[in-house]
Amino acid sequence: MKYVKNIAATSALLAGMTLPAAATDLEVTHWWTSGGEAAAIAELAKAFDATGNKWVDGAIAGAGGVARPIMISRITGGDPMGATQFAIGRQSKELIDAGLMRDITSVADANHWRDFIKPMAIMDNCTVDGKIYCAPLNVHSKEWLWVSNEAFKKVGIPVPTTWDEFVATGPKLRAAGIQPLALGGQAWQADNVFDALLLSLGGPDLYMKIYKDKDAKSVASPEAAKVFAAFADVRSLSAGTNVQDWNQATNMVITAKAGAQISGDWAQGEFERAGQKSGSDYSCLLGLGVNNYISTTGDAIFFPKLKDEAKSKAQEVLAALLLDPKVQLAFNTKKGSVPIRNDVDVSGASECMQKGIKTLRDGNALPAGEQLLTSDTRSQKMDLITQFIATPTITPEELQTRFAKIIAFAD
Ligand code: GAL
Repeated sequence: MKYVKNIAATSALLAGMTLPAAATDLEVTHWWTSGGEAAAIAELAKAFDATGNKWVDGAIAGAGGVARPIMISRITGGDPMGATQFAIGRQSKELIDAGLMRDITSVADANHWRDFIKPMAIMDNCTVDGKIYCAPLNVHSKEWLWVSNEAFKKVGIPVPTTWDEFVATGPKLRAAGIQPLALGGQAWQADNVFDALLLSLGGPDLYMKIYKDKDAKSVASPEAAKVFAAFADVRSLSAGTNVQDWNQATNMVITAKAGAQISGDWAQGEFERAGQKSGSDYSCLLGLGVNNYISTTGDAIFFPKLKDEAKSKAQEVLAALLLDPKVQLAFNTKKGSVPIRNDVDVSGASECMQKGIKTLRDGNALPAGEQLLTSDTRSQKMDLITQFIATPTITPEELQTRFAKIIAFAD
């Protein structure tokens, strides 16, 4: 009797309470494991938990090259996560075409995304037949030289303002025991550096002729030869870096062990997290100080199709909140990227971020290589670039010839 009485008492108590809707766990996979990246993703987790759901963090170290294959095999192998980060590009399109990803157009329309996402073109890679399959988070760009002001002060030379000025300081930096250029060992980093050189030193026309039009003759041109020669400078200036992760290379610049790093503006999150200020502690040369152009890559959250109704609902809650202006500001200032919404107040952003925003808003922005080249072409290109960096006997001329062959067969 006593037992029955207790049940009656408990159910009466519960009936009077407004229990929170059951919190739904949603596993989110990503490769944001550096200091700045972790601080940025923590802002998303905090905002999602505040909705009464639960962010289950699925961080995968090693950046895109390591994480992406794991994410793709889980989705294609029937063990999908609740949501995943991908850099916006043609690789996510292959999953969409396979029918494995959720169409979230209803969320996009309910929240009027098309009214404020800029550049809307960045969405092309996750819009199929007019349907939207990703929640875009930011705009990143690769065309930056991050310079340690202290390293140049140590050797008594002015902070370089262009790529050529920087290259000329190499011998003095080395003589002072400072690594001239820091470049992590993962293949994607040298690949990104090449893309940055092509646009910054080759210019927007050559860049689009090669990556968009797949014009092999342009690859073999004298203008392009300058880019391949500059990439040979990268090889010699970065020899001896001996770190793997991009943020370890950034840390060499932060601690003045290296003079500079060519990196995407995700590096900015590391400087800010280290308490360094652009202008006083470090300098950022957009377009390597040569061409005022950037290529727009970016990150987005994609949603695998799930059987679980509650988790599918939670996916929609997450998609909507990622584009909330407050979440956009909190995430992007820590990430070092430009918000994907053009109505977010970024007046408090760093001088470097302001440069990126102005370039973007001036329209000097082109699609990144991962949006113009197929995964197959990109892996051939990455293999060739990795081989070049590791093999000093390969001349820039040979690299140019072999690169032209890859582009000749690209689709
Ligand atoms: C981007 C990401 C950056 C960095 C970069 C290279 O998509 O936002 O934080 O990880 O890829 O992996």
